[in-house]
Amino acid sequence: MEAITTLVDEHRVLEDGLDALESVIKQTEAGKAPPALKIQQLLDFYADFADERHHRKEEAVLIPNLEQSCGGRYLCPHSDTLDRMQREHRSGHRLIGAMRDALPKLSKDPKAREAFLEAARTYVTMQREHIKLEEEDLFPEAEAILVGHDTELMAAYDRRAADAGESRSLREFQEIVDGILAGIQPTIPVPAST
Ligand SMILES: [Fe+2]
Ligand SMILES: [Fe+2]
Repeated sequence: MEAITTLVDEHRVLEDGLDALESVIKQTEAGKAPPALKIQQLLDFYADFADERHHRKEEAVLIPNLEQSCGGRYLCPHSDTLDRMQREHRSGHRLIGAMRDALPKLSKDPKAREAFLEAARTYVTMQREHIKLEEEDLFPEAEAILVGHDTELMAAYDRRAADAGESRSLREFQEIVDGILAGIQPTIPVPAST
């Protein structure tokens, strides 16, 4: 079902962003945080791609359609998962804000560094579990409930993107995150030749 595989494909791009954030965490823990501009680009990617694109598809299209097909949220088999999904989307948004707030003082203020690291670690752990929960529990159920609705769901995704003024393709976001990942990776010193 294309409406679900679209979300799964977006998860793979989100996971590349999580790999980049894990690299930021490791380098910051070692006292060698990447340049703030690179981290800023990663946080912007999450705001644009996770919050504005991916979560909006789930919240403005998938969840309302599931609720409608079930006759109400609490008649859906995975209503508790829907509650958790939305709670975690809001938490993710807050954690990105906390990282943004701490970023200007990351390399100068130990408190800001700890606040950044705590938010970043929580974000990575929560997002990985969130993706797993959606793919293992919710999406198979959604495919069964929404069978026959693929065309209208895909049209609703497109309308949602047009309303938000978002025209970038998944490939473009993949290129953005690939560029961020490459820019964040520490430079490995080339061993001296003997
Ligand atoms: Fe989600
Ligand atoms: Fe998702």
